[in-house]
Amino acid sequence: MRKAFIAGNWKMNTNCAGAEGLASGLAEKLKGIETVDIAVCPPSVYLQSVAKALSSSNIALGAQDVYFEGSGAYTGEISCEMLKDVCCTYVIIGHSERRHKIGETDELINKKLSAAISSGLLPIFCVGELLEQREAGETETVVAGQVKKGLAGLNADKVLAVTVAYEPVWAIGTGVNATSQQAQEVHAMIRQLLADMYDESVAQQIRIQYGGSAKPANTAELMACEDVDGLLGGGASLKVNDFAAMIKTVA
Ligand code: 13P
Repeated sequence: MRKAFIAGNWKMNTNCAGAEGLASGLAEKLKGIETVDIAVCPPSVYLQSVAKALSSSNIALGAQDVYFEGSGAYTGEISCEMLKDVCCTYVIIGHSERRHKIGETDELINKKLSAAISSGLLPIFCVGELLEQREAGETETVVAGQVKKGLAGLNADKVLAVTVAYEPVWAIGTGVNATSQQAQEVHAMIRQLLADMYDESVAQQIRIQYGGSAKPANTAELMACEDVDGLLGGGASLKVNDFAAMIKTVA
């Protein structure tokens, strides 16, 4: 069966001391937990100090974005090798804030996924519909389109490195999470799509996280859904006690 995977996306928050404190607080509180894969994704400038705070802990490090080129004249960008150099295991790709606030396209996200997997990083590939798309009955078309375009050209071996994160945009940072029924419906649709694109065995192995106002109070209900294999927390992952409580609910 799929091992639960709970990750925290710190987004553009914390400072150096705060990031180190959060990481060491979590390392202390979550000591010994082996039944859940745990990761935190700090801002890139704090990756190295967080890596130190997490060394010899059971918490993996992830980045919030990566560029697909290997090196060269790409001012401001960070390569896969650079992330591996500072001990990243995971990298978030295609987060809705990058799609909608920064303007990332499915094609760019596809290149990033491909580069990350080839380098050995494990991508957390985010998909999700806007409120108006849900209200127009377009959730399945939008999410399926993002999955197909994001994973285009990736064979079964490669796709097994991916965790998909379903993050309905209307649930992010709003305090209004998707109900467990809404989440399960989309997760099951994504898994069926993966079975159609690859095969049933691949679809059964890929973990699908839910993200969007995930917090201690809704963790048990969301995680009870058959196709919800983990959570990608935002706001709640910035508080040691809340993030630890989410993980302990599942462990
Ligand atoms: P919130 O948990 O703050 O809604 O953010 C979710 C998210 O975007 C994680 O990537």
